[in-house]
Amino acid sequence: MKLEFVLPEIISKKRKKKESYEMKSFRNSAVRFFLFVGAAIFIVTFAMISVEARKHHSSRNKPHKHLKDKGSHNAPGPAPAPLPHHGSYPTQSIIFDVLSFGAKGDGVSDDSKALLAAWKAACKVSGAVVEIPEKFEFLIKPITLQGPCMPHLVLEIDGILLAPPQVGAWPKSGLFQWLNFKWVHDFTIQGTGKLDGQGSAWWSPSGVYYIQKRFKYNPDMKPTALRFYDSHNVTVRDIKIMNSPQCHLKFDSSSGIKVNNITINSPESSPNTDGIHLQNTKDVEIQHSNIGCGDDCVSIQTGCSNIHVHHINCGPGHGISLGGLGKDKSVACVSDIVVEKISLQNTLSGVRIKTWQGGVGSVKNVTFSNIEVSDVKYPVIIDQFYCDKKICKNQTDAVAISGVKYDKIIGSYSVQPLHLACSNDVPCTDVDLIDIQLNPSSDGFRGFRQALCWNSYGKSQAPLLPSSIDYCLRTESGSVKRIARSHAEHSCPS
Ligand SMILES: *[C@@H]1O[C@H](CO)[C@@H](O)[C@H](O)[C@H]1NC(C)=O
Ligand SMILES: *[C@@H]1O[C@H](CO)[C@@H](O)[C@H](O)[C@H]1NC(C)=O
Ligand SMILES: *[C@@H]1O[C@H](CO)[C@@H](O)[C@H](O)[C@H]1NC(C)=O
Ligand SMILES: *[C@@H]1O[C@H](CO)[C@@H](O)[C@H](O)[C@H]1NC(C)=O
Repeated sequence: MKLEFVLPEIISKKRKKKESYEMKSFRNSAVRFFLFVGAAIFIVTFAMISVEARKHHSSRNKPHKHLKDKGSHNAPGPAPAPLPHHGSYPTQSIIFDVLSFGAKGDGVSDDSKALLAAWKAACKVSGAVVEIPEKFEFLIKPITLQGPCMPHLVLEIDGILLAPPQVGAWPKSGLFQWLNFKWVHDFTIQGTGKLDGQGSAWWSPSGVYYIQKRFKYNPDMKPTALRFYDSHNVTVRDIKIMNSPQCHLKFDSSSGIKVNNITINSPESSPNTDGIHLQNTKDVEIQHSNIGCGDDCVSIQTGCSNIHVHHINCGPGHGISLGGLGKDKSVACVSDIVVEKISLQNTLSGVRIKTWQGGVGSVKNVTFSNIEVSDVKYPVIIDQFYCDKKICKNQTDAVAISGVKYDKIIGSYSVQPLHLACSNDVPCTDVDLIDIQLNPSSDGFRGFRQALCWNSYGKSQAPLLPSSIDYCLRTESGSVKRIARSHAEHSCPS
């Protein structure tokens, strides 16, 4: 798989030269010549702030691995930030190892300052790599790693980053998130390591009580493990994120996001521990990842468009969700969403759209296809009466839902195969149900075998199982479309 970030080609070429130089130990003067030329080009590359460099791509996975042993670990003890020196071995300096910046890596000492220092130094260098080395554990307090930085910055996490385990160790300013990336562009996180939010203390009622007492804070305020804010062209791949106090990976007001081959893991019983949460974020691809957590595996919130989620294993958790949207009469706009080739095991819902009564705005052009469910309570849900309390007031406005296609939803359910509860006042329109084949799960089934559709318009196409899906949707008329359109139009960009 080709990487997004990549070092300038000239550097990897030069690295090859360097290796051959070591093997032949100066025997080949041509190599020396190329080294010299390479170094010169490297300096020029630096000066040219990488608009050019972006065009060069190396296709090697983790191209800097070879370098790791050759220069990055040899700074003894806490050292001042080693600035890249533009001498004969410039490739060494492209790695900014936290150990060289004073990190202990013992899992107990606070290594936040070292990580910040490594980040600051790397940020100034095009194609730099901040290295979290394997076989070490780094305790990191809540921090913000801020851009803008030079292009192609990589955070290579091969070791383990640990969040403070006690609720009391989190400062008030750190309650939003643990690792906060702000204003980063053209940036990659990758590696075989993991982020451990050590969040269990936050999941219990006593943890919530502690926060209320200490911070006089809304108990919903719990840290997200890894958050990106106003960041663009970001890739997160290969890493594992576990046991977050709340959401594991969040993108807020961002664009050009790629998530690939990551693992997210927290217990089914951990409350509100969403896997990946998107908000005001556009142009996203999330793929080939395993997500098991206590809430939505992927949650798509207002302001999101052009989101492609595919090849995800989800479970335990609450499934793939759009919303809840329109809380407290807010405007919600979500469009152009494709969720496909998803496998869900033992989740609350499969694919779900949930909105609060009283909201405005629209959800449109959404496709859910090739969804495999196994023992999922509600494989298909639209819930426009979403309410997190016992009773929510009935209200007339609603986020208008239109153009939702369900194609090939197959497997077993444990409560209800299909549940489309649309607003009394704003119908769901242009809903397509194609090839839905859902059987009650074999053990201990105790639900409803009937599909439910309320104020939902559109068409269905065989095969449909249970057969009640066939006559669930109502046929659209011009007036229904007009009502739906008039609600959808007034608040979202077209
Ligand atoms: C993001 O990438 C796109 C396409 O590669 C490019 O056009 C755009 O300028 C980049 N934006 C930022 C902020 O780096
Ligand atoms: C996925 O990530 C793991 C590390 O977590 C890595 O070993 C593996 O090679 C990656 N797979 C792909 C296809 O990139
Ligand atoms: C619906 O969304 C998909 C995915 O973003 C996009 O390719 C397609 O053009 C959209 N269709 C319409 C009619 O906007
Ligand atoms: C809301 O409306 C439904 C029927 O549309 C009704 O059954 C329910 O009692 C109402 N709830 C409240 C709190 O008024």
